[in-house]
Amino acid sequence: MKLLHIDSSALGANSVTRELSAAVAARWQDEVPGLTIDYRDLDADPIPHLTGRSLAKADPAEAEESERILQQFLAADVIVLGAPMYNFGIPSTLKAWVDRIAVAGKTFRYTEKGPEGLATGKRAIVASGRGGIHTDSPSDFQETYLRHVLAFIGVTNVEFVRAEGVAYSPQHRADALAAAHASIPLPLRRAA
Ligand SMILES: Cc1cc2nc3c(=O)[nH]c(=O)nc-3n(C[C@H](O)[C@H](O)[C@H](O)COP(=O)(O)O)c2cc1C
Repeated sequence: MKLLHIDSSALGANSVTRELSAAVAARWQDEVPGLTIDYRDLDADPIPHLTGRSLAKADPAEAEESERILQQFLAADVIVLGAPMYNFGIPSTLKAWVDRIAVAGKTFRYTEKGPEGLATGKRAIVASGRGGIHTDSPSDFQETYLRHVLAFIGVTNVEFVRAEGVAYSPQHRADALAAAHASIPLPLRRAA
């Protein structure tokens, strides 16, 4: 089984989502024999914005990197995303990754009945961090966006490990992190 672990926080060691995504990946590593993990830190190693030159494949090195990112996503059985809320949405570094994996004919296609996701059979766990509280609020363009775009490309099995309100107070942050750690889903669902 292959796990793809992506981080995008710009806050380094102070990041809530890095702590949570690492805990999710570690849990999978502990519990899934033979698991292999690919890791990309989009803050340290950003992907260029998608431009007209990208779509035209004008730069062979960029086109090769884009294909590598797509194949790495397609090969993964499980995707663990560290996804902070920045300005109500996701960091632009993470959006740049989404722009490389949402590819017509590869991960989605349009049919006479509408769009169809092609990257099926995967599970995604999103480590979500936000300074304020946005659950069930129209101000959430972060988790709702990720859920939508992942479903659009066929990834409908998406779970969120969420620490929110982390900017309210140090105590609130500690409590939110503890609750998020306690909510990390089991890698292998056991029969009841
Ligand atoms: C550039 C930036 C933009 C942010 N925008 C928002 C926001 O729109 N709403 C919010 O609730 N928190 C916002 N925050 C707070 C973060 O969501 C919060 O610090 C969260 O913990 C980020 O995850 P991280 O610790 O992994 O970086 C922002 C933080 C930064 C650095």
